Amino acid sequence: MIRSSTIEISRAKNGREVIVKIAEEKDLKDIFKIIRERRKERAEREREPKIQELTAEEKAWWAVSITNSDPDTRTLLVQLNQNIVGQLTIGRHKSVTDNTVVVLSLDVIRTYRSNGLARMLMNCALSEAKDSLNAELVELWAIVQNTHAVNLYRSVGFQQTGEILRSKDKTWCGQPADRIHMIKHLQG
Ligand SMILES: CC(C)(COP(=O)(O)OP(=O)(O)OC[C@H]1O[C@@H](n2cnc3c(N)ncnc32)[C@H](O)[C@@H]1OP(=O)(O)O)[C@@H](O)C(=O)NCCC(=O)NCCS
Repeated sequence: MIRSSTIEISRAKNGREVIVKIAEEKDLKDIFKIIRERRKERAEREREPKIQELTAEEKAWWAVSITNSDPDTRTLLVQLNQNIVGQLTIGRHKSVTDNTVVVLSLDVIRTYRSNGLARMLMNCALSEAKDSLNAELVELWAIVQNTHAVNLYRSVGFQQTGEILRSKDKTWCGQPADRIHMIKHLQG
């Protein structure tokens, strides 16, 4: 069974109508496009010679995660003028406790940023985690130097726990891309 639903219709900072919806199988191509854009951005930032393309395994993971084959994962999409321009994926943290949900990935296509779209996705994801996945805690790992993302997480109530994941190989502008752990308790 495939999930399909609009969960919010709102306005972007520029006044245009924005729809946040749960991803369907037909959205896979758009999701892959968004992820490729992010990887292209990383290759440019890190001066890597080529873009790391999505593998068959990764594509299969996405296909499963947006169908009911994996009821513990949700991909939320943000749509502007019929175009899907961002995604946020959450999943239940199976190795910790049943009541914890992890933010697995978040992207807004470059040209659509600073319009409040990531904030909209995040607020919808927090409601989805609480009401649909019955989570009590949401956690994520953010690259220290990714200040836009860290600012967003702080502004919706995430707090740093002090735990740091040292990077073995990933970089951010040539520096080790260490990750900070952030959590948000969902109120009853
Ligand atoms: C991080 C990201 C998702 C933000 O998307 P966005 O749609 O531009 O974010 P929003 O417009 O909703 O902004 C929400 C908040 O994020 C922070 N933020 C966003 N852009 C910012 C900027 N240019 N400078 C500083 N803070 C910024 C602010 O706190 C902002 O709140 P405000 O507008 O009230 O000041 C986007 O930059 C992105 O896709 N980056 C690449 C992928 C990525 O880094 N993902 C996160 C992985 S942990």
